[in-house]
Amino acid sequence: MKQLQEKIVSEGRVLSESVLKVDSFLNHQIDPVLMDAIGEEFASRFAGSGVTKILTIESSGIAPAMMAGLKMGVKPVFARKSKSLTLTDHLYTASVHSFTKNVTSEIAVSKDFLDKDDVVLILDDFLANGQAVLGLLEIIEQAGASLAGVGIVIEKGFQPGGKTIRERGIRVETLANIKTMENGKVEFFEEATVR
Ligand code: G4P
Repeated sequence: MKQLQEKIVSEGRVLSESVLKVDSFLNHQIDPVLMDAIGEEFASRFAGSGVTKILTIESSGIAPAMMAGLKMGVKPVFARKSKSLTLTDHLYTASVHSFTKNVTSEIAVSKDFLDKDDVVLILDDFLANGQAVLGLLEIIEQAGASLAGVGIVIEKGFQPGGKTIRERGIRVETLANIKTMENGKVEFFEEATVR
């Protein structure tokens, strides 16, 4: 997605060879015009897949999931990472380990919002090691729901998450797939090679 690649180049900051800061439009401040285009792009890529629900994880997955939900006419649900006063039982849960942050968190989704009749599209902001997506897949399995695929705003293609998920035969659609971030410069895979 050209518009997103240009935004990453103009506003993203390479903090190290493996960490990209995109706080100005995705992870802290949010660019609603870009999110609108992102929602449209996911809706077009997954048109005809019969999606009934979008599943993401708080917090940065919520904005793209919201816009995709609006375009697709389905409701996004976000897995919670923190304990909630009101979300106490009747839950699907999974453990998600972050290699980046070296913490394991329990994620939870209420059984009220996902069931066996759902066709789920998983959406997230970043795909690095794939642990968040694996946790969401576990939740979909517990619900007995089906999976339409996975949509990712920014994939770090040099990390193993994309391969891990695709090897399971799962369709992964990435809007910007980063090949390298060496010497502070972001280079992308060509779209045709990532699809
Ligand atoms: P994984 O789910 O693919 O295994 O990713 P990992 O554990 O490595 O990432 C943990 C958190 O760090 C996730 O956000 C993920 O989106 C984010 N992340 C990973 N790589 C980058 C990067 O290069 N740049 C930025 N900006 N974020 C990255 P999170 O902890 O769930 O945070 P949030 O959703 O509340 O923002």
